[in-house]
Amino acid sequence: MATASHSHFTYTPIPAPATASPEHFKDFGRQVEGYVPSEVTPEQTQEIIEMLYKHSILLFKNLKLTPKEQYELTHAFDPQAQSYGHGNNKTGKEKASILHPDLKTIPHQPQVQLIGNGKVPGTYEGLESPQLKHPHHKTFHKSVVSQEEEDKGVTRFYRWHIDAALYALSPPKVTTLYAVSVPKGEPQVCRYDDGTGDEIQVPLGGTAFVSGKTMFDILPPELKSLAVRTKVRYAPHPYVWMSKAHALPTGLGIEDEGLELPLEELPEWEDSKVKVFPMCWKNPVTGALHIQVHPCGAQALHIDPLPAGASRDGALFPDGADITDLKETRALLYKIQRPGIAPELVYAQDWDEGDLVLFHNRGLLHSVVGAFTPDQLRMFHQCNLAASEDPVGPDAEDLKKYA
Ligand SMILES: [Fe+2]
Repeated sequence: MATASHSHFTYTPIPAPATASPEHFKDFGRQVEGYVPSEVTPEQTQEIIEMLYKHSILLFKNLKLTPKEQYELTHAFDPQAQSYGHGNNKTGKEKASILHPDLKTIPHQPQVQLIGNGKVPGTYEGLESPQLKHPHHKTFHKSVVSQEEEDKGVTRFYRWHIDAALYALSPPKVTTLYAVSVPKGEPQVCRYDDGTGDEIQVPLGGTAFVSGKTMFDILPPELKSLAVRTKVRYAPHPYVWMSKAHALPTGLGIEDEGLELPLEELPEWEDSKVKVFPMCWKNPVTGALHIQVHPCGAQALHIDPLPAGASRDGALFPDGADITDLKETRALLYKIQRPGIAPELVYAQDWDEGDLVLFHNRGLLHSVVGAFTPDQLRMFHQCNLAASEDPVGPDAEDLKKYA
C-alpha cells in the first residue's frame, strides 16, 4: 500500500470516555480536521485509508456528505468491490434473515442504507416516508432488562459483530456511518448481566466499539497460541440460521438452546460458499493481528497443531482439533472474546448530527446500544461493500512468535 504523507489533515485523539483505559486507547481512534468531501483529492483519500488502518476509527465532525460522496469514499478502500456488504438482493427465504427489517436502501445509491428509528416525514432521498426501527435487545436476547429498569435508563449491548454476510461474500474492509438526525437524551447504563457486575455508561443510541487488536493483545500466551492456530467456520446463511435463536446478555454470541434452523431448512446453499476465516486477521498496514470473529454466526472451529519446535508446555490443543459441537465452539470463542469487551476497553460514539465515522470493519467489533421511543427520530446513512478478497490470517512470523 502506498504511503501517504500525513500533511493533508490534522488528527487528534477521539474523546475517549472517562471509563476507558488510556493505555489501550493510545492509538485507537482519531478525529480528523480539514476534510471537505466535495474537494477531496486521490492523495487525500489515500492518507485517510492509511490512517484508518492505523487507528481503527476516524471521526469527522460537522460534515456535509451526499450518499454519492459517502459511497465514493467507501469504495476507495476497495476499488474492485461492487455490491453492498450483504448483497443487494434479498428475496424468498432470505427474507427470514434477522437483518432484513433494519435496512432501507437509498434508491439512487443502492450501496448506501438508511438506518435508524422512527417514521421519516415526507419523501427522503427517494424513499416514501420510510419507517425505521432501532434494534432493541428484547427482540434478540434470551433474558431482557425489565421495563421498569429500562425506564430508568438501563440498556444492553444489542449484538457485537462485524458487518459481514459471512456467506458467499467477503467481509467489507470499512464501514462508513453518517449521522443525519440524532435524538438527544440522557446517557444510559449498559449492563453486561453475565454475573460479573460489569456495566458502563453509554450515550443514548451510541455505537459501541472494541478493538480486535486489543482483544488479541490482552490474551495470555496459551490463548494467543490457540487464536493464531484457529479457523472459524460460519453457518451457511448465518442470519437465517440464527433467526429463531437468542443472544447472551452481553450480546457476544448465542445461547445454547438448539434453536438454530436445520441446514435443510435454510435457503439453498453450497459448500464452496461457506466461509472459513482465520480467527486473527492481519492488518494490511501495521501487520498487527486482530481477533475478528462474529460469534453469533460461528458454527465450528478448526485448530491446527502446534508448529514443529513449539513448546507444548501448557499449550491448548497441541495436536490440533476439529470442534464441531456448537456449545464447545461458543464456549471457546467466549473465553477468547469476552475479555476484549471489558468496560475499560469500550469506546461508545456519542453522535452529533453531521458526524461521519469510518471504522475498520476488519479490525474491531461494534454493537448498537440503547432504546428509543417510537417518536424519537434517528437517521443514519450506512455504507459498506462486500470486499474483493477474503481477510488474511497470521503469517509464518506470527506463528513463530505466538503459536
Ligand atoms: Fe454493524
